[in-house]
Amino acid sequence: MTRAILVTGAGGVGKTTLSAAIAVRAARSGKRTLALTVDPARRLADALGVGTLGAVPTANAQLELLWGAMLDAEHSWDAVARRHADPEVAERLVSSEFFRVAARHFPASQSYAAAERMADHLESGEWDVVVVDTPPAAGGIEFFTAPAETRDLVGGRLIRWITGGPLPGRRSLFRIAGRPALRMASAVLGSDLLERVAEFLFDLRTTHDSVSRRAAAIERHFRQASTLVVTTADPAPLREAERFFRELPKVASRPELVVFNRSLPDFWTTAPAPADTPPVLAENLRRWSSEATRQAAHRGEFAAHHKTVVATVPWQPESPTSLHALDELFTRAEGLDVLGF
Ligand SMILES: Nc1ncnc2c1ncn2[C@@H]1O[C@H](COP(=O)(O)OP(=O)(O)OP(=O)(O)O)[C@@H](O)[C@H]1O
Ligand SMILES: [Mg+2]
Repeated sequence: MTRAILVTGAGGVGKTTLSAAIAVRAARSGKRTLALTVDPARRLADALGVGTLGAVPTANAQLELLWGAMLDAEHSWDAVARRHADPEVAERLVSSEFFRVAARHFPASQSYAAAERMADHLESGEWDVVVVDTPPAAGGIEFFTAPAETRDLVGGRLIRWITGGPLPGRRSLFRIAGRPALRMASAVLGSDLLERVAEFLFDLRTTHDSVSRRAAAIERHFRQASTLVVTTADPAPLREAERFFRELPKVASRPELVVFNRSLPDFWTTAPAPADTPPVLAENLRRWSSEATRQAAHRGEFAAHHKTVVATVPWQPESPTSLHALDELFTRAEGLDVLGF
């Protein structure tokens, strides 16, 4: 069975970097591994071999067993429509202006499209391990709530949003035309506006059963996956990490561990400066010592409060963007060995 490792956390904490490091280590340990990555920095994309490629997995030229693909949350609404609607209906949907508006208004739909793609890879039978870097467009937890949101959306929420009620029959929908706002909109946008809205809503409604089944399958994948919450010891990412621990168990599995990225070494908390250290340097060392102490305190508090395993990943002097640097990052991390690679 394919093992899914989901790497999540606040923006900018190192999700893409860590998911790449985990994928590199998994491949090195003999697992056929797919790194599903989101918007990696140029050099990291090159190292993973996804620099110029898209959604289709490509083999890494340097590391056997490592494959990479982009988990692109954009323009994938179209793929959702094509999967869940009859071909003719799907064409109408993707060319509907309301479809575009809805996709923009409900960003969960984009995360949902990415989650569908993740599920496809997990079910393909091709991989021992799939490491998923969760899309930042989703703002974190939304990646996990997207299946339920999207099910609601096609099942009625969008319809309520547009019509102010449940989906009426075709005929009564046309009676809504009397509403002043819509009369005005019709005057501006064309007299067949309502007909087009109605057609769109009915078309969308036909996808509901299929979307519901797929959403349930995606939620099963979420529950079976190992989820890692990445954070730094700073207030905003920590608050986001807290939120993951509180809310993920409702929609996915409980996070397996929290990873404190950009950590300073513990021994810095007490490293004394030799007597002949120039004052400026001694002052500098005291600052770093106090920062290392603060970080260690946050890790301790988080672990105690959430009764969770904590891993630390060291703050590297340079962005880890080569396969070698990623492997090194994993080696120098503490606590990631629970993943078993
Ligand atoms: N341990 C580390 N030491 C030094 N630099 C790091 C470390 N981890 C990540 N970085 C750097 O920090 C930056 C942000 O990392 P990354 O892109 O992985 O974060 P992210 O969580 O994926 O961000 P986003 O939410 O924008 O997708 C990158 O330049 C990355 O190379
Ligand atoms: Mg990223």
